[in-house]
Amino acid sequence: MPRGPVRMWIFVPLSLVLAGLAAIAAADEVVRLSSLDLTKMTAGWGQPRADESVQGRPLLIAGRRFAHGVGTHADSVLCVILGGGTRRLTAWVGVDDEVGTSPASIEFQVAADGETLYRSGVMKAGAAAERIDIDLAGKQTLLLVVRSAGDGVDYDHANWAEAELIVSGQRPVAVDRPPVPEEPRVLWTPPAGPEPRINGPRLFGVRPGHPFLYRIPCTGTRPLTFAVDNLPAGLDIDPTTGIIRGRAPREPGSYVVTLRAKNTTGSAAKDFSIVVGETLALTPPMGWNSWYIHYARVTQEHMRAAARTMIESGMADYGYMYVNIDDCWMKKEGDLPYRDAQGAVLPNAKFPDIRGMVDEIHAQGLRAGTYISPGPWTCAGYVGSHQHEAADARKFAEWGFDFLKYDWCSYEQVATGEGRMRLMRPYQQMGDILKSLDRDIVLNLCQYGMGNVWEWGAEVGGHCWRTTGDLGLERDQLLPGFYSIGLSNARHWQHARPGQWNDPDYILIGWVGSAFNQSEGTPTSLTTNEQYSYMSLWCLMAAPLIFSGDMAKLDPFTLNVLCNAEVIAVDQDALGQQARPVRQDDQTLVLVKPLEDGSRAVGLFNLADRQRTIEATWQELGVEGPCQVRDLWRQTDLGISAEKLEAQVPRHGVQLVKVREER
Ligand code: GLA
Repeated sequence: MPRGPVRMWIFVPLSLVLAGLAAIAAADEVVRLSSLDLTKMTAGWGQPRADESVQGRPLLIAGRRFAHGVGTHADSVLCVILGGGTRRLTAWVGVDDEVGTSPASIEFQVAADGETLYRSGVMKAGAAAERIDIDLAGKQTLLLVVRSAGDGVDYDHANWAEAELIVSGQRPVAVDRPPVPEEPRVLWTPPAGPEPRINGPRLFGVRPGHPFLYRIPCTGTRPLTFAVDNLPAGLDIDPTTGIIRGRAPREPGSYVVTLRAKNTTGSAAKDFSIVVGETLALTPPMGWNSWYIHYARVTQEHMRAAARTMIESGMADYGYMYVNIDDCWMKKEGDLPYRDAQGAVLPNAKFPDIRGMVDEIHAQGLRAGTYISPGPWTCAGYVGSHQHEAADARKFAEWGFDFLKYDWCSYEQVATGEGRMRLMRPYQQMGDILKSLDRDIVLNLCQYGMGNVWEWGAEVGGHCWRTTGDLGLERDQLLPGFYSIGLSNARHWQHARPGQWNDPDYILIGWVGSAFNQSEGTPTSLTTNEQYSYMSLWCLMAAPLIFSGDMAKLDPFTLNVLCNAEVIAVDQDALGQQARPVRQDDQTLVLVKPLEDGSRAVGLFNLADRQRTIEATWQELGVEGPCQVRDLWRQTDLGISAEKLEAQVPRHGVQLVKVREER
């Protein structure tokens, strides 16, 4: 018998036996993780399962099958009271094979008594399971965490395979996560003064000779009187409403006008460029969308009421202007006919007069948006544009729409071609059709980031493109969903510029729909600090600012988050750069956005569960000190600092400032 293999055979089991003896003493009890109360474990999707994957299959990582363990889904947390009785944790961790080649990416973490003892690093589908063996001697509490690794939680099926606690004393007990501390709804945004203040971007794009509509966003006690100096021929201003309408000049170029507003307490003036050319959406679109509050219940009346509220609540005075229907305004399968004699899509009974609805929205100086899919059906199962694209687009223009969200949905069934071309084709087609119309329609690509849409969205005629799957309502996540979506979107900063924006989905605060098609919404579960972080992150990322909560239940706190002129000015800055992440780890995100006036907007985000001091040196932020610092939310100067920015940032909170070199 050859000697080598025999020696190996003897050596391997012997060493394992010895190691095992060292790890498990005679009095030890092995407690399987799967025997604990898994109702205490949270998951970002589905339910954690004992001895099965989250979808109920055998636990399988990179082809290796595990006899027992826990299958869960990021973000997932389990808190366990150990009481000093557990000596070790052993397990194999990895992504379950049931996700196939989908882009799962997760990180496993183990913490005890507040200290992180293990991190797997990013693990992807197909990667071999990693063995963990962690000393827990004397520890009181254990936290088992699976985080999405920065690209949203889609496909993040995670296994704690053959996970065992080696117990020598008190038995481990799974418990609920401690509740989120209450935070008072403090209003950071100072109330607008009585004197006029003209908000909104410094410029607006329109194609030559096309219809133009712009309501001057202006706060201050009404009545206000408006005027515009040097308004090109073909445009008129209504002095009482501040609405400019008419047709843009045929000659391309930048028409610089001065917007003026006055009331009994004072006056304001602002230079504004009407940029006649081929580029629309020179700054990110701002408005409201029906999806996350009304879902399939949406009616024409919701849209009309939303437009009225956009004016009455003051949102329009800060630049919100698009009133956008999402899915579910067309016919559902079986509700024939789907189309009119010209082949254009017909609305369902809840939208009896789309033209009248759009006219009413326009009469208030606002713009209207619509939605459809290039596929045969929309995501919610309503009629799509497939093979009727031109007729539908012409109908949208005839109705007067100014914005189209074009949502991939069922297009997969009819897609042709390979690779990127397959993804580009429907958007290129609609982009070309829209360019041929006598109307400016902003094109919002919605295909969840497939094929790195940020690299080609503009080429096919898109003005903004969703970079991820749906943000969705808050699930049981370690950090609220806007962080993972935001962190993913933040990576594409180099692709944003005037007319081309990364879209991380809507702003879901205030009252949001509790679930698809249920009749009631609920107030957001986001804390005060999380809501300020959300808005700050979107503004730094030059994201479209589209609120999708209930317009009928706007409260002062929600309005104070949505309507801070200095914060919105960061989003709407004419330079059109998206903030660059200069530091990002589990606990901290630092974003820097260069602004047109040479200053920079900086966000210090604290992702940790407790208040922390966050610092950033001027060098790190790419500026030369000393610098003047202004708190944008509170609209107060913080003074001059020689070396760095430093702030105490609360749990999941933000410090959003503007930094200007002192020269
Ligand atoms: C998709 C989109 C959502 C919404 C729904 C409507 O999920 O990503 O934003 O439009 O479809 O069905």
